[in-house]
Amino acid sequence: MMTPPPSFTAVAREGDIPVGEGRCYEVAGRLVAVFFDGAAYSAIDDLCPHMGASLSSGPFRDGVVTCPWHAWRFRLDDGAWCDDPRLRADVFPVRVVDGAIEVAVVPRDGPASDAG
Ligand code: FES
Repeated sequence: MMTPPPSFTAVAREGDIPVGEGRCYEVAGRLVAVFFDGAAYSAIDDLCPHMGASLSSGPFRDGVVTCPWHAWRFRLDDGAWCDDPRLRADVFPVRVVDGAIEVAVVPRDGPASDAG
């Protein structure tokens, strides 16, 4: 059975996130870091896979966010840890509709699976 794609949720308005910065929003029970590079928005799980720091407060440059605690770096396009891409943070689709920034977040528990 096909799982329906997650629906988009508005988290902010254009202009709420300054260029080169990130902000954290709660969506579907998860914390999501949304970054704006001046042209496009990116969304990644806000909780660093290392020890759970908030990635939204980390420095962000050239599509890479650096964790503020221990400086692990993650690519915003696919969530990969720059030092070992086998480790990834979840990333989420972002769109802008009528000035609203929307993200589509899969709940951490995820949809029901046939695997088992
Ligand atoms: S908590 Fe992010 S690098 Fe350690």
